[in-house]
Amino acid sequence: MLYSSIFALLACAAHYLAPASAVPFTHNSSNATVETVYSFPNLTWVENIAVRGNGKVLVTLITAPEVWEIDPTTHTAGLVYSFPDATAATGITEVTDDVFAVAIGNWSVVTAAGTKGSWSIWTIDYRSRQTWSKHHSPPSIRKVTDIPGAVFLNGLTMLPTLDNTVLAGDSELGLVNRVNTHTGAHSVAIQDSAFAANATAAALLGINGIHVRNGYLYFTNSFSASLVYGRIPVSSNGSATGSVQTIVATPPYPTNIGYHADDFALDGDGNAWITTDASSTLVKAAPGGNVTIIEGGLQAAVVAGCTSAAFGRTRGKRDTLYITTNGGLVVPPVGGIVGGKVLALNTRGL
Ligand SMILES: *[C@@H]1O[C@H](CO)[C@@H](O)[C@H](O)[C@H]1NC(C)=O
Ligand SMILES: *[C@@H]1O[C@H](CO)[C@@H](O)[C@H](O)[C@H]1NC(C)=O
Ligand SMILES: *[C@@H]1O[C@H](CO)[C@@H](O)[C@H](O)[C@H]1NC(C)=O
Ligand SMILES: *[C@@H]1O[C@H](CO)[C@@H](O)[C@H](O)[C@H]1NC(C)=O
Ligand SMILES: *[C@@H]1O[C@H](CO)[C@@H](O)[C@H](O)[C@H]1NC(C)=O
Ligand SMILES: *[C@@H]1O[C@H](CO)[C@@H](O)[C@H](O)[C@H]1NC(C)=O
Ligand SMILES: *[C@@H]1O[C@H](CO)[C@@H](O)[C@H](O)[C@H]1NC(C)=O
Repeated sequence: MLYSSIFALLACAAHYLAPASAVPFTHNSSNATVETVYSFPNLTWVENIAVRGNGKVLVTLITAPEVWEIDPTTHTAGLVYSFPDATAATGITEVTDDVFAVAIGNWSVVTAAGTKGSWSIWTIDYRSRQTWSKHHSPPSIRKVTDIPGAVFLNGLTMLPTLDNTVLAGDSELGLVNRVNTHTGAHSVAIQDSAFAANATAAALLGINGIHVRNGYLYFTNSFSASLVYGRIPVSSNGSATGSVQTIVATPPYPTNIGYHADDFALDGDGNAWITTDASSTLVKAAPGGNVTIIEGGLQAAVVAGCTSAAFGRTRGKRDTLYITTNGGLVVPPVGGIVGGKVLALNTRGL
């Protein structure tokens, strides 16, 4: 059984419990109420998230090669697509209006490793839906290209300065690819030592979340001892034009198995709302590097196993942070593992 092995992994994980860092942080907020938008069955790892212009939420599962659509107003979910010849769906990003790119491949929860040669980029296109059946017809799904050299494609982000282009981080190889979702052309855009996986950490997981804003690629590194969150200036084609700037060097919050940071969402003021997966904490990193613990804590259930986050887009929802979780699959919270979730947090005033 796949999951029986996870618990052997978890037993080992307990030995890696890191002490709280001595670095000071701004303050702790007070676990503001988090609402459950949708709960998946137990042992489902919800991995990444993108919000559609109509307010519906697309999430990927890493424990199945699936993308689901969730309606936050009705708390219902529907399978968008189950991708063939793969075990996992990871990064998802809107590449052009209502067209989403997603990374598909093989990644094992047991070994926490990807399979070289299994990765591809696909698009989910809602524009092609015929108007007469707008509410029923599925989006069109298209394979863009294989990325034969990839080992673990993880974070995906749209490059706003180049049409139909996404950047795709490889967490094991420590690099960022650029992919044209129309032509399938792809190449390595940036390789930097700050993206590298830490070979002695609990998992081979370097660069994780990536987001481009105002000429910089912002990124997290999950296990680096010297960079939790940083940025690198990029040109219009996604190549680096300067060196990495560290924003948060070491985690000023307690971590489990040394896991610093998973994916994150940038707000309008440039704050990064960072999920910490195994460390079961949501933190906010200001552009200057001050960090606030917003929700949770080691083994706390509230945002246990949080994997990514994205802000709402419709009126009244722009301060709502949607957070995905794996239910604490890597380090179980007090009360035990639960199904992966989509949560909602009103960030106004936090
Ligand atoms: C904030 O919470 C952490 C544990 O999550 C604790 O170590 C720290 O002392 C708290 N700091 C303040 C200022 O309350
Ligand atoms: C949230 O509550 C948990 C207990 O459930 C506690 O351990 C943690 O320190 C609290 N976090 C914050 C940011 O207040
Ligand atoms: C990926 O996993 C699928 C499903 O288990 C399998 O059919 C496929 O051969 C794997 N691909 C590679 C490159 O190992
Ligand atoms: C890798 O992680 C270990 C354990 O946290 C740490 O001691 C080491 O400095 C890290 N190495 C790098 C290159 O970040
Ligand atoms: C990307 O743009 C830079 C100029 O900013 C140029 O030097 C480089 O050749 C371009 N790379 C690709 C692959 O187009
Ligand atoms: C970080 O927070 C400290 C303590 O609140 C404050 O003194 C400092 O100015 C802040 N730094 C930045 C860059 O905002
Ligand atoms: C989920 O599965 C794990 C592993 O079997 C178990 O420990 C946990 O109690 C289950 N949680 C629920 C809510 O059933």
